[in-house]
This record gives sequence, C-alpha cells and structure tokens, in this order.
Amino acid sequence: MVRGVSRPRSLRASRTPTPRRSPGRNAAARLRVLFLINEAEPLVKVGGLADVGGSLPAALREMGLDVRLALPLHPTLRPLIKGERPSAALGIPGTSGPQTASIYTSRLGRVPLWLIDGPPLGEADRIYHTRPEEDAGKLVFASIAALRYAIHSGWVPQVVHAHDWHTAAALYWMRLNASSAGSTLSASAGVLTIHNLPYLGQNAGAALREYGLPPPGEPDGPAIGLGMPYAHVPEWARDALLALGIASAERIVAVSPSYAREILTPEYGSGLHGLLQSRAEALDGILNGLDVRLWDPARDSRLAARFDASRIDRRARNTAALRVSFGLDGHGERPLAGIVSRLDRQKGLDYALPALEGWLAGGGQLVVLAAGDAELQRAYVELGERHPGQVGVRIGYDPELAARIYGGAHLLVMPSRYEPCGLSQMIAMRYGCLPLVRSTGGLKDTVRDAEWPGGTGFVFDAATPEALAQALVRAMSLFALPRRWRALQLRAMKMEFGCCALRRQVPHHRLCPF
Ligand code: ADP
Ligand code: GLC
Repeated sequence: MVRGVSRPRSLRASRTPTPRRSPGRNAAARLRVLFLINEAEPLVKVGGLADVGGSLPAALREMGLDVRLALPLHPTLRPLIKGERPSAALGIPGTSGPQTASIYTSRLGRVPLWLIDGPPLGEADRIYHTRPEEDAGKLVFASIAALRYAIHSGWVPQVVHAHDWHTAAALYWMRLNASSAGSTLSASAGVLTIHNLPYLGQNAGAALREYGLPPPGEPDGPAIGLGMPYAHVPEWARDALLALGIASAERIVAVSPSYAREILTPEYGSGLHGLLQSRAEALDGILNGLDVRLWDPARDSRLAARFDASRIDRRARNTAALRVSFGLDGHGERPLAGIVSRLDRQKGLDYALPALEGWLAGGGQLVVLAAGDAELQRAYVELGERHPGQVGVRIGYDPELAARIYGGAHLLVMPSRYEPCGLSQMIAMRYGCLPLVRSTGGLKDTVRDAEWPGGTGFVFDAATPEALAQALVRAMSLFALPRRWRALQLRAMKMEFGCCALRRQVPHHRLCPF
C-alpha cells in the first residue's frame, strides 16, 4: 500500500471528498469493474481523458459499483512510490524473457488504485511520444499486468473497461487467452470507451508479438476468415491497438451520442467506419459527465471572486483580475473571449486565426492558454504581439489559469473540426462563460444556439474562418444586450452535466445486473 506519498501529498486527500453511498447493498453483490486508463486527474493529465479517469470511477462507485482503477506508473508519478514496497511482483511473459510488473496499491479518493510499474515504463519524463509505437510497449505491458494482477489478487472483474488505444490491448488479451491463463476472465465482459478515434495506436505489431499477442492473420494470431471477430479489421489496421479493441470488446462506448453516429461515417471514421459499422449493435453514445464538485464556481479558490447563479454580479471581478494578469486594457464593456486548449488540428485553432482578427477589429479582447503544435504556438504568440493590450497569450499547461479563464472570460471559443465530447465547453457553461462551438460530436450535444429557445451559447456549422467569424459577430451583437446575455449565462450555468445526468442516460439495469 502506497503511504506517505509526496506529490500530490496524499493520494487519499487529493480528490474532492465524495459522500459515502447509502449503505444497504451487499458489497459482495456489487458489479466488479476494472477501469483501465492512461490519465487520471490530479495524478496525470494531458487532456479530457484525465478528467474522465479522475472522476468517472468515483461516480460509478457512488452508484454502487465496485470499481478499481489501474494506471501505468508514469515516470512523473515515481515520487508517489518512493520508499514503498509493491503489493505484488508478477512475471509478465515476453518473447525476450519475462519482465517483472510491480503493482503498487493505493486509493484515489475512495477508489482503489493500482499503479503498474515495470521496465517498459522507462524513465522518460513525458506521457506520450510523437509516434504511438514508441509508447505501445509500455502500454501493452501495463494493460496485461493489470489483468494478471486482478487474477493474482483473486478480485476477478466482471467488466474490464478499457479506454482509448492505450489500454485496448487488455481486451485483445482477454479474447486470445479466454481458454488458457485468462480463463479466470472468460466470463468477464470487455467494454471499450472511444475518447478520440483518430488516435489508433498503430504500428504496435512488435509490442503485441513481444507479449504473446500476435496480430490477426499472423502465424499464432487469430484467424481473419469470414465470421471471425477480426474479419472486419482492415489489413492496414491489424496492428492498431484501437482497431483490435473495437473488434474484441463486448460493448463499445463513444463519449457522446453524436460522436457515436459520426464515427460510422467515412468522414469521421478514421478508416475504421466499416469495422465500426460491423459492430454498430454493440455501440452506444454516452455523454461524458463533469465532476461538479471539483468544478464549482461557488467553491473554486482559484478564482478572484467565487460566485453562483444568484451572485453572478461577482463574476465581473474575475474578468477584471484576468485582464490584469494578461496585461489587457480594462474596459468592462468589451467582450473578452478565451481559449483553453491543446493545440492540435482537431481543435480548429488554425482556421480560427483569421476569424479572431475580425473579433479583435470589432473591439473584442482575447486570452489564450494553450500548448501543443509548435507552429500554432508561434502563430498565437505573434497574434498577441500584434495586439498588445487586447490579446494575452500563455503557452503551457496551467490548471489554475484555466479555471480563471472559465470564471472570467465572457466567451469560450472551441471551433473543433471534430470533438468526441469536449469537457471544456461544459466547464465554461458551469462558470458562466458562454461556449462558441462548431456543431460536431459532443459540442452539438451540449451547446444550444442562442437563437433557439433554451440557448446556452453559439453554434456554427462549417469549419471555415467565415462561419466562425459570423458566429463571433453574433456573439458580439448579443454581448451588447446585457439582459439577454445574462439570461444565456444563467441558463448555461444551470445545465446538468453531473452524475445525475449519467444516471438518466444509463438506466441502472444496464450498468448493474444485480
Ligand atoms: P481534449 O481532451 O480533447 O483536450 P476536452 O475539452 O475534453 O478536450 O478536455 C480538455 C481538458 O483539459 C479540460 O479539463 C481543460 O480545462 C484542460 N486543458 C486543456 N488545455 C489546457 C491548458 N493549456 N492548461 C490547463 N488545462 C487545460
Ligand atoms: C478526448 C476528446 C474529448 C473528450 C475527452 C474525454 O480527448 O478529444 O472530446 O472530451 O477525450 O472523453
């Protein structure tokens, strides 16, 4: 058991406390779910995957499921296990000899946590390399080690819930080992959640072979004939971990209903639309939830002024503080747009640049907190240099500043080319910052245009500077009508994205057979 951890100081104390679920249900009868994911806030975060990894296991536990969370021990997490002894050391068979997986057990809030260490985890101080094959070895190793530890510990999950390509190998392992070492798991169901389809985890053949999981169609690999589970995996994707996960899973979840429909089309299917169509019966779209205790403007100590819908006037103090921290001119009546994002083609922040010039020409202001693509970073820094006092740009990852942008900016710009779900727009709404989004995936499912009854933001269709510019013009015109703007803000703040929303989407019987 990991004790006396250093950064964060205590795993136990590092989450918002969650109330105990009401007693009564026999613990032995609770559905056992092993949750395999590569990021979990506050331990390791690159994007929204970590928001889900940090909050969904706890929410499911509150709903009565016996969830355990397994996470690779990324080198950045090493300080947590300093001086600790692993709960188990297991030999993971490999073609070049067995490798020892060390499992450190702890808790993240109330959720039991398994941190998986071993030689493939390496020392590199980064979560992801540019090419997936550089990370495939450690991720396949960690996925298999988590399953083997479950078997070893005698806690046999009824559901193995893998997330994205990073942990999809676990589901392939379950299929291939159903009648041998993995027979303990032969009655377990595999669920795969797709958070971001284009990240396929391709070129993982070497890693798969190393750990005894040859790709379909290879000698010793599963057959690919008609009627076989891997028949619909295109030849080029037979070493792509996500494709193998899709073909192996009993159920597949996309993180919003619209994205579940979109990925069945050539436009959004990343070449796997045929495979996904063949699994359409098994595919559901379930909108991500937000940890509304963690994201609460009434309790968020990172804000200059805390507020809620009944004290929304206090929000202006956050806007003023944000302007000061970015060195912007302090005109209260000018609309301030914010961007909090990874810089990636997905997010559409390249074609946004000309549209944002229009916003600035119309008198709007802009603050940007973003990191990623080096060329785009430069482009945004230059935008800031061209508009001193009107644009502020921070390149980097800064959760505190992100919260201050949600709590102070008037508008959050999110022109994504595709967006499986998107959490930033939900956080923005909860903080009274109106989202301006492209109509795609989860953005389409969560934001309603101001021109419609029940509007909560601004929505546009085409991924073009012109369409975005028009939406920005509409937002600026509405900003000039404070009462209408306020009505939109209040509606956005009241949107329900928490655990109750999850309960409504997934009836109890579909989560828990008991
Ligand atoms: P994605 O997972 O595709 O990046 P989401 O909207 O689902 O998009 O989630 C993004 C999450 O990462 C949000 O919690 C957002 O606040 C956070 N985030 C994104 N960029 C930054 C940044 N530069 N600094 C701090 N937090 C960020
Ligand atoms: C991915 C998607 C994002 C989603 C997040 C959590 O990173 O890009 O849309 O919200 O995963 O599911």
